[in-house]
Amino acid sequence: MAEINRSTKAYDVVILGASGFTGKYVVREALKFLNAPNSPLKSLALAGRSPSRLSEALKWAAGPNSQPPKIPLLTADTSDPDSLARVAAQAKIILDCVGPFRLYGQPVVAACVEAGCDYLDICGEPDFMERMEASYHEKAVENGSLVISACGFDSVPAEIGLLFHSRQWAWPSAPNRVEAYLSLESDKRIVGNFGTYESAVLGVANADKLAELRRSRPRRPRPAIPGPAPPKGGPIIEQQKQLGLWALRLPSADSVVVRRTLATLTENPHGLPGVNESVETVKKREDFWSTVKPAHFGVKLGSKSLLGLFPVIMLGMFLGLLSKTRVGRWLLLQFPAVFSLGWFRKNGPSEEEVASATFKMWFVGQGYSDISLASEGSKKPDTEVVTRVMGPEIGYLTTPIVLLQCALILLNDRAALPIGGVYTPGIVFGPTDLEKRLQDNGISFDFISKKSLSY
Ligand SMILES: NC(=O)c1ccc[n+]([C@@H]2O[C@H](COP(=O)([O-])OP(=O)(O)OC[C@H]3O[C@@H](n4cnc5c(N)ncnc54)[C@H](OP(=O)(O)O)[C@@H]3O)[C@@H](O)[C@H]2O)c1
Repeated sequence: MAEINRSTKAYDVVILGASGFTGKYVVREALKFLNAPNSPLKSLALAGRSPSRLSEALKWAAGPNSQPPKIPLLTADTSDPDSLARVAAQAKIILDCVGPFRLYGQPVVAACVEAGCDYLDICGEPDFMERMEASYHEKAVENGSLVISACGFDSVPAEIGLLFHSRQWAWPSAPNRVEAYLSLESDKRIVGNFGTYESAVLGVANADKLAELRRSRPRRPRPAIPGPAPPKGGPIIEQQKQLGLWALRLPSADSVVVRRTLATLTENPHGLPGVNESVETVKKREDFWSTVKPAHFGVKLGSKSLLGLFPVIMLGMFLGLLSKTRVGRWLLLQFPAVFSLGWFRKNGPSEEEVASATFKMWFVGQGYSDISLASEGSKKPDTEVVTRVMGPEIGYLTTPIVLLQCALILLNDRAALPIGGVYTPGIVFGPTDLEKRLQDNGISFDFISKKSLSY
């Protein structure tokens, strides 16, 4: 196994795709920590195809009243492997913001794994993540490169939120199923940028390829969850009276990522050992995972009114109908605002729209007050626990906060983390202080209620 000498790397962090819509918000978040007191982030570089666009992004990120700091701008194009190799050779961590990841992500992962550089991204595309795991895990372990996708709103609030939720079920109680209800709120329009929309269009278009990849891979173990599995299917729309929401089942990356975290946990019940963990860290990690209780998990999009779900239902129908043909995809990609009924725009949301948006993700868990009840055949869950994760706008505020905090953990405490490999954020960051760091940066995790269920 290669022991990487990270101290010789010129940059702690390189942000690749810094000129993108999300990239520039990531740069803004990174500047808050660059050379700040007690921050391990001492050197930062931006990378992308165009130095002038990188320089504009840096100027924007520094704000209208500040001189942009002197930060190296590196030229890198995902179609030029040598340029990526040069960047990866100089970086401890690359934060990849170049999407759709199915089009541009693989060469970046390859360069990082080759150079033993750590890689974090903001991908929300399950097929990309699973392909990278299938292709690069072994080499990443060998070369000491940690590759962790989905370090943004997809899927850290869901992952860390579920771990937080499951730990509220004190022994002998245990959850059976947890439904996350995502509610997006704003007094302005809620808008996403084209990059996310394009990733979704291509994801639906290539759904068959993901199914094929999964068929070609060995089945992973499933966690032991007390009680029967919830029935498959179920209503697409549900009225969640307790939360005052209408909810639509979402084919989100979150549930797939959570499932992969739980599979890795089943294979490694004490979590993943760090490269060079202290005795206390080993104990902390093992204690942490001993309090986590796996559950069946799903995500729904909630809205205060049934009408509020209408644009998402329409977008889902358009994606299903049009994304499979070339002409259909062309139409979808030419007219995002039309097909998403205004939810996605080519030029993204305004700064005001971003600033005024927030999210709440409610975790409603049903389970047993005593795990032994679960073995009583048809016994229904008798307890409900509700927790909540809440934070600012998802794509351009929460995502950069999450990504930066993940990077800072890597810089601060690399010895406590696995030597390398392709993993989900939950299994790597679960036992770290990520939840606290997110709390300190405006993303809260709250226990809401616990009650008995009567039928
Ligand atoms: N996890 C989450 O919750 C979350 C949140 C937000 C975004 N995202 C994802 O992030 C990705 C980017 O979204 P976005 O809206 O920021 O897109 P965007 O504005 O189009 O930005 C794309 C970036 O990629 C760069 N790029 C494109 N092709 C490249 C290449 N061949 N080599 C190097 N750089 C290249 C672009 O650079 P140029 O300036 O040179 O064009 C730009 O910096 C999408 O996949 C989206 O789904 C995820």
